[in-house]
Amino acid sequence: MSAQRPRVFSGIQPSGSTHLGNYLGALRNWTALQHEMDSVYCIVDLHALTLPKQPGEVRLDTMSMARMLLAVGLDPEVCTLFVQSHVHEHAELGWIMQCLAGFGELRRMTQFKDKSERLGGVGDGDNGGPNASVSAGLFTYPALQAADVLLYDTDVVPVGDDQRQHIELTRDLALRLNSRFGENTVVVPEHRIPPAGARVMNLQYPEQKMSKSVGSDAGTIEVLDEPRKIEKKIKRAVTDNDGEVRFDPVHKPGVSNLLSILAAATGDDPEKLAPQYTQYGPLKTDTAAAVIDLLAPVQKRYSDLSDGDVTDALGIGADKASAVARVVMQRIRTAIGLLSPAP
Ligand code: TYM
Repeated sequence: MSAQRPRVFSGIQPSGSTHLGNYLGALRNWTALQHEMDSVYCIVDLHALTLPKQPGEVRLDTMSMARMLLAVGLDPEVCTLFVQSHVHEHAELGWIMQCLAGFGELRRMTQFKDKSERLGGVGDGDNGGPNASVSAGLFTYPALQAADVLLYDTDVVPVGDDQRQHIELTRDLALRLNSRFGENTVVVPEHRIPPAGARVMNLQYPEQKMSKSVGSDAGTIEVLDEPRKIEKKIKRAVTDNDGEVRFDPVHKPGVSNLLSILAAATGDDPEKLAPQYTQYGPLKTDTAAAVIDLLAPVQKRYSDLSDGDVTDALGIGADKASAVARVVMQRIRTAIGLLSPAP
């Protein structure tokens, strides 16, 4: 990795599938940025453990996510692509960041509130009752996320809009670490949220973001969905009854979401696209065609890749990532003043 170019870091959870929101909000930008900046991308398998998993599930999901990241165009020779648990400094710095983060600031994280509510809410969780499934890890997750970023002296974090609050917390924790232990202990990063595609909404519930865990299959376009399935989902997307095509996310969330998807897929502007349509039908047809064209090359590459290609890429990535993380972690240990082990 070069010391001159600004460094980019971002992560994605291995959750068994990748949807259009992940692609437009994050992965597409990762692919472009790898040629401009020193880019480090991580499959955050430790984060995936915050929700209950079956034995072996995370391993399979990590392999398919890595394959997806190669299919979207990440080049392991150009960027650093690796699995979080392969670089043990993430867990180590994660603990330090948990000790630096306040209970109150973690409690304000909207993703924790949403996810814990979906799991049945936070109560005592006594006797393995319904609340036991809200793990402590789900609560402290943003501290581990901060560690991910800070371990690589990251300048820029490209993410979708839903991660804005976590990256703001990362900045706060970086500033706190520096003020307690020395000005240049860690680099304070900035987020980069793309102008188009930063918030792709669910096609059936357009007030909610497209997500791996929320809503029906009909509302989520998977990157690997067949063209006919994509067409069907977009044709059935919820709009409204007034028949007017206008970009107005507050009053017309369904139609605006389709315009945003079309704009993100074609490199256009949703406000400029709106006047070109007088009916919902043609807007849906064009949006489906644009999404199908956008995803076709990714689908082809995904099916061409072998498990060997994936493990080779991850091996190279773990070595490159470890080399950086080891140095940064040592700097943080020294700044904090942890006793070094005997040589
Ligand atoms: P995750 O796995 O939920 O999502 C990966 C990326 O996809 C973006 N994204 C979206 N963008 C637009 N519209 C949507 N509907 C949509 N849904 C998801 C996310 O913003 C993200 O950029 N906590 C993170 C993973 C993480 C991380 C990190 C990210 C762990 N450590 C360090 C950045 C830096 C997460 O769960 O993303």
